[in-house]
Amino acid sequence: MEEEELVQLVDMTKIPKHIAIIMDGNGRWAKEKRLPRIEGHRAGVEAVRRVVKACAELKIPILTLYTFSTENWARPRKQVEGLMSLLEKVIAKEINELNENRVRLMAMGRLNELPESVRRELDRAIELTSRNEGLILNLALNYSGRSEIVDGIRRLAQDILNGDLHPKEINEELFSNYLYNSQLPDPDLLIRTSGELRVSNFLLWEIAYTEIWVSEVLWPDFSRRELLSALIDYQRRKRRFGRVEEE
Ligand code: IPE
Ligand code: IPE
Ligand code: MG
Repeated sequence: MEEEELVQLVDMTKIPKHIAIIMDGNGRWAKEKRLPRIEGHRAGVEAVRRVVKACAELKIPILTLYTFSTENWARPRKQVEGLMSLLEKVIAKEINELNENRVRLMAMGRLNELPESVRRELDRAIELTSRNEGLILNLALNYSGRSEIVDGIRRLAQDILNGDLHPKEINEELFSNYLYNSQLPDPDLLIRTSGELRVSNFLLWEIAYTEIWVSEVLWPDFSRRELLSALIDYQRRKRRFGRVEEE
C-alpha cells in the first residue's frame, strides 16, 4: 500500500498519548552492509530524525526512546565510547532544530553516571526546551526498568525514614510517583524493531497494559511507513485492561 493511503487509515481521534520504542538492530544493519558498527548507530540517528518528525506531524504527545541501557556498559569499551561521543554530538547538533519545532527534550535513567560532557550537553538541551509545548521527546539513557524501580524504592524508604510517609500510605499510585518522569502517562504502544521478542529491561512497571508491536525491520531502516503501520494496528486492537467487553 502507498504511504499516503496508510495515512488515510489512521484515525486522528484515536492517537496514542505515549509511544515507547526499543530501537534495536543498528549493529546487524551495519554488519549486513559490512560497515563498522558505529555506522549502524549513525544511520539509527537518521531513523530517530524521521520518527520524531512523523510523531510531531501525527500529534503524538510523547515519544520515549530506549537509547542506552544500564546493561549496554558491558559492551566493548571502544564501542561504548563511540556511542557516548555520538550521543553528545547529536544532541549538540540537533537541539536548535528540535527547539524551533517546539520539541521538549526529557531524559530518564541514572543520568549522573553518564560522562560529564554528555551530561552537560543533555542538561543544556533539556533546559533550553523546557518551556516548549510540542512533542515530548523522552530519552531513556543509562536506563533499566529494574534500576528505576530500585531508585524509586530508595527515595521512598528515605521519605519513610524522614517521617514524611507511613508504609500504610504506599499503593500503586503513590509508588508510581517515585519513578523517573512520573508526570508522564504510561505508554499506550511499545514498538520493538529487529524482530526480537523481549523487553530487555525497559519500562517494566509502566508497560503493565501497553500494547506491543514488533517489527522485523532493523532500526536504521525504520521509517514513517513502519510507524503508520504500527499505529493502524494499534488502533484496531481492543484494550480490555482485564475487563470483559460490553455485551
Ligand atoms: C541498538 O542497536 C542500539 C543500542 C543498543 C545502543 P544494537 O547495537 O543493539 O544492534 P544489534 O542488536 O547488535 O543489531
Ligand atoms: C535494548 O537493546 C537497549 C536499547 C535499545 C538501548 P539491546 O540490544 O541492548 O538488547 P538485547 O541485548 O538484545 O536484549
Ligand atoms: Mg541490540
